[in-house]
Amino acid sequence: MDEKLRNLIFVHAKKWVLEAGEEIRQSMYGDLSIETKSSPDDLVTSLDKQTERFLVHNIRESFPTHFILGEEGYGDDIESLEGTTWIIDPIDGTMNFVHQKKNFSISVGIYHDGQGEIGLVYDVMNDVLYQAKRGNGAYRNNELLPPLKKSLLLEESLVSMNHYWLCPNALVDVNKMQQFVKKVRGSRTIGSAALELAYLAEGSTDGYLSLSLMPWDIAAGMVLVQEVGGTVTNIKGHPLSLLGKDSLLACNKTIQRDIFPYLQK
Ligand code: IPD
Ligand code: CA
Ligand code: CA
Repeated sequence: MDEKLRNLIFVHAKKWVLEAGEEIRQSMYGDLSIETKSSPDDLVTSLDKQTERFLVHNIRESFPTHFILGEEGYGDDIESLEGTTWIIDPIDGTMNFVHQKKNFSISVGIYHDGQGEIGLVYDVMNDVLYQAKRGNGAYRNNELLPPLKKSLLLEESLVSMNHYWLCPNALVDVNKMQQFVKKVRGSRTIGSAALELAYLAEGSTDGYLSLSLMPWDIAAGMVLVQEVGGTVTNIKGHPLSLLGKDSLLACNKTIQRDIFPYLQK
């Protein structure tokens, strides 16, 4: 992608994400409609929808040839990542948003012909914007994030994952996951995949595992993690297509090989 165009897109995307965050902070204590989608734990609020509509409207006006993949469905039905595609999660961590009023983010990843060019993850309540352009490093607000540690043992690692890993499931052996939880120094559950990837990028965790995520949960965070030298694949180590659901293993490269044996059925 042309550097001048990418900078222009970056400036716009950043402005809209910050504006959307401000709007969420202003409106979140007002009347909110809360609905469930596929299950009682799959929540969506009027602010999820409003935020996605705001972003989609602005993108369509300024970049009419770009494609949009958004969780709430105001974007396009896309079958490939050809051209420039904005992958948007208007509120990642809606359950936290509803229950805690914190620990949620706005996630915007911008891809060109399948390559992650821009990643923005906005921690709305802390007013922290994690931002990256491919090849230019990742930043926490204006602070450049250093590359991930070059040497690290699993025993010294802090890993994000949720408790579904310890329930019987189709992908992994629960006994092995119990051993994994004992092996690492600690495990954490944040509840926003985008923030979990941002925390990995800033080095406050060393890995993030998920049994199932959608493209909008991870598109922006992947750019952040890759910019600090981390790796992002599914739990078999295969690349992610960003066109559908998949498992996820994002981590410091140093511990990736040590994690795989635990992720077997
Ligand atoms: C969810 C969050 C959560 C992850 C779920 C996602 P949502 O996104 O990222 O951390 O465990 O799988 O669906 O629904 O709050 O946008
Ligand atoms: Ca999400
Ligand atoms: Ca969401």
